[in-house]
Amino acid sequence: MSSKLVVFVTLAVVAQRAASVAVWGQCDAGSVCTFSNAYYSQCLPGTAAPTTTTPPVTTTVVPPPSSTVVPPPVTSAPSGGTGSATGLNGKFTSHGKKFWGSCADSGTIGIAANAAVLKSDFGAVTPENSMKWDATENVQNQFTFSGSDALVNWAVSNGKMIRAHTLVWHSQLPTWVSNINDKNTLTAVIKNHISNVAGRYKGKVYILTNTPSEILNEDGTLASQVFFNVLGESFVSIAFQAARAADPTAKLYINDFNLDSNNAKVQGMVALVKRTNAGGQLIDGIGTQMHLSAGGAGGAQAALTALAASGLEVAITELDIAGAAPADYTAVVKACLAVPSCVSITSWGVSDTNSWRASSAPLLFDANYKPKAAYNAVIAAM
Ligand code: G3I
Repeated sequence: MSSKLVVFVTLAVVAQRAASVAVWGQCDAGSVCTFSNAYYSQCLPGTAAPTTTTPPVTTTVVPPPSSTVVPPPVTSAPSGGTGSATGLNGKFTSHGKKFWGSCADSGTIGIAANAAVLKSDFGAVTPENSMKWDATENVQNQFTFSGSDALVNWAVSNGKMIRAHTLVWHSQLPTWVSNINDKNTLTAVIKNHISNVAGRYKGKVYILTNTPSEILNEDGTLASQVFFNVLGESFVSIAFQAARAADPTAKLYINDFNLDSNNAKVQGMVALVKRTNAGGQLIDGIGTQMHLSAGGAGGAQAALTALAASGLEVAITELDIAGAAPADYTAVVKACLAVPSCVSITSWGVSDTNSWRASSAPLLFDANYKPKAAYNAVIAAM
């Protein structure tokens, strides 16, 4: 695809999207809105930033005069970004959903068979480990981005959306952070970390998730961990405010596990986001990880419905199911399809062989990167 063609399609897509979510059309001076796929464009360094309030396509989108290439209609799945129209992401987005993604990192994108499946079946990637605090700021104020840059660059090159993960999480947290017991120090440390990590990928990331992550007890109260113990609930707002400032166009998600039925933790999450958003919307969405046991998908639709009662969008952010029974997977997918606010699914990996739960074979592709029965069932269900 020529660069001229990219500019034309970019403007067309931004105009189409601006009607519903105007903020996504924004690029700073010095950056240009660049087409990734039919559902996503992003601000990348460039010389001609488009207007932030995009006028109608018919009056403002002019194809480059010298271009002889006919752009594809924006409603069709382009090769690359969204993958195959008959793959997971293609089928899922045909229902109006935003993406079906997968976690990945340098190791897994470096496996040719794994990368091929990411390209064909997934529309977004989430850094499995490379964007976590211990990977990016293991020593105070010394930032390392080699791993996260590799994934972000791969995503940009392949037209995939990026769901960032994680900014504030008590796990994989360096001891220099977990040892802080002073409010002002911890606040400054959180702000500096988020400013550097989210700021580095400003305009490239669709979702900043786990802005704070895994912060609730099973009864829905806030859990004891360094951020809560030092700052109380205020750390939630501190983190979201810092993320909003660092990347105003990213959707900001909170994320937790065991939100798999309409349980006390789900109710605690809904109450927390309502409290946090009371003075203005800081949190844009709620992620439910859905690391499920075999037979554990029965409460998925009730959970998604209850989370959607927050008024925010909802996402399944780390899906894997022990045993990968077709019935379990289809129950989850049908639940998301049935809940309009459920906008995306992220599988926590492609192949069982690279899963953190490898022994329970919880993913949709086997050790040879071949689709399993659950994959075929999910495709059929969509
Ligand atoms: O990076 C080191 C490497 O230097 C060392 O040689 C190697 C030896 O084992 O360990 C490597 O670190 C591992 C890291 O993954 C990167 O591969 C850790 O041991 C290992 O514990 C870590 O596991 C990750 C886990 O989070 C850590 O909590 C999993 O890959 C990752 O899938 C998992 O993902 C989390 C989500 O981020 C949040 N929700 C829960 C989910 C499952 O725990």
